[in-house]
Amino acid sequence: MVAMNACEVDPVIKEELPVNDIRFSVPQGWPQPVYDFSTNPLTTEGFILGRKLFYDTRLSRNNTISCGSCHQQFAAFSHLDHAVSHGIDGLLGTRNAPGLYNLNWHPSFMWDGGVNHLEVQPLAPVDNPVEMDEDINNVVVKLQNDADYRRLFREAFGTETITTPLILKAMAQFQGMLVSANSKYDRYLRGETSLSTSELNGLNLFQQKCNSCHTAPLFTNFQYMNNGLDSVFADAGRARITLLAADSGTFKVPSLRNVGLTRQYMHDGRFITLEQVLDHYSSGVVNSSTISAGVVGGIPMTTQEKQDIIAFLKTLSDYSFINDRRFADPFAP
Ligand code: HEC
Ligand code: HEC
Repeated sequence: MVAMNACEVDPVIKEELPVNDIRFSVPQGWPQPVYDFSTNPLTTEGFILGRKLFYDTRLSRNNTISCGSCHQQFAAFSHLDHAVSHGIDGLLGTRNAPGLYNLNWHPSFMWDGGVNHLEVQPLAPVDNPVEMDEDINNVVVKLQNDADYRRLFREAFGTETITTPLILKAMAQFQGMLVSANSKYDRYLRGETSLSTSELNGLNLFQQKCNSCHTAPLFTNFQYMNNGLDSVFADAGRARITLLAADSGTFKVPSLRNVGLTRQYMHDGRFITLEQVLDHYSSGVVNSSTISAGVVGGIPMTTQEKQDIIAFLKTLSDYSFINDRRFADPFAP
């Protein structure tokens, strides 16, 4: 659906995208976020600037790739139908691009937790040779030479002198605003809608079999676990960061919010459908030195139970989030 337009060198921003209601609030019943804007006050101007940066291909070496190239709003800011990321010059990475939402609650970022702060996270893809392959100092020069950016920085931060920390603060304002808490499941909890028998049955089964790791309301416990994909680890996962054998093959438990919209699945995108994921848990789990207790021997489920769990997982899709024009690409025609 969204074809990214390569080589947009001096694109014109669409000013008519809505920017009303740029406020952050914690959804009812959720824990306090890790990142709460206390050191980076959220403003409409900062959000608009962060949004433009997120969608700007000038953050890449040859001005072809933006954050939004791999994090597409219609796929809850994941990269639909891509097993692993697809970056500059068509180069492939090794990991699946996760959806971006509720980031303020993450204690750490990336599948291995290699980044520990929302405000430094963009440096990783900008610098990555198979993603954007650009030096952030060059980005600063490109933006400094653009009158529209000088205006946007002045409006957001009171200065036309563009710096890396200000770029990162603006991007954190945009990304931190990506709150997804209005799925059918959320509306069910608020008493605004009901779930079908199959969805309710799936919710029940989920609470018994999955919630210990994919813990509501964020549908992750943010821990590093091994759900039995491999006996030999092509990707060391968390151990890449900690260098501990006990962390080999463990990955951050992904949130299952919007999981019906973010295929493909797992750190390497090996599964295309939720049916394949459920088949993995019921009959594909393999043993290894670091397998997490909760999946040892597999999680028994009948065909009907799998269908009900999938029906429930689809109630976690937040269509108002993926259609929220405040988060849309301001460069899109
Ligand atoms: C070429 C594709 C690509 C581009 C471009 C890209 N990303 Fe990503 N993004 C990924 C992949 C792949 C991961 C997972 C990497 C890992 O775990 O090692 C990721 C992870 C993330 C995460 C962590 C999410 C989580 O759940 O831990 C955030 C936040 C993020 N990207 C934001 C951005 C921002 C901001 C930009 C632009 C500056 C950007 N990305 C550009 C592919 C991309
Ligand atoms: C022991 C903890 C644990 C349990 C129990 C568990 N999971 Fe997972 N789940 C994980 C981990 C860890 C990953 C990421 C693994 C990877 O990519 O290497 C994951 C990944 C997933 C994904 C892929 C998400 C994505 O965005 O790629 C889905 C879907 C999923 N699990 C659903 C379930 C369901 C449904 C159940 C219950 C039947 C369940 N999980 C039980 C730990 C667990």
